[in-house]
Amino acid sequence: MRGVAAGPTWVFGYGSLIYKVDFPFLRREVASISGWQRRFWQGSHDHRGTPERPGRVVTLIPAPGRICRGVAYLVDPRVFAHLDHREKNGYQRIATHMLCGNPGERVEGVFYIAAPDNPAFLGDAPIGEIASHIAASHGPSGSNRDYLLQLAAALRELGDEDEHVMELELLLSG
Ligand code: SIN
Repeated sequence: MRGVAAGPTWVFGYGSLIYKVDFPFLRREVASISGWQRRFWQGSHDHRGTPERPGRVVTLIPAPGRICRGVAYLVDPRVFAHLDHREKNGYQRIATHMLCGNPGERVEGVFYIAAPDNPAFLGDAPIGEIASHIAASHGPSGSNRDYLLQLAAALRELGDEDEHVMELELLLSG
């Protein structure tokens, strides 16, 4: 893991970290990072699926010129023991800068990314297959469908109509 600081650190969340806040924080702000976009390309063995039937959750893939909106939390470094455990199935913490709050203040921080070389990575598939996969998956943290629907609702609240997430939401509601 990289990006460990001695003092309070900003963590950018773009998936379940936006709406499932099971950790203490010092500040919470709407935030964005540039050059990345969300994709349901990461397998979930421990939260929204099982090792035998992994679910699909979001990671970020490089996307020059794109802005990914989410939420940033200023956390005490001790919180990383919990976050690293929560994101242990293929995610690694990397350093980034982000725009935080409104108007955006540029700050340094970290986010969790599941890179294509992690063993749980599933990658791309036709959007209908991704939707059926999500509809059929369940794990210890609940249904994969709820992960998607809660993320879509949280993004709408942030004013980010992420087309990948919204298309999947539509397919799952149909
Ligand atoms: C995140 O929310 O920033 C990471 C992916 C997830 O836990 O859903």
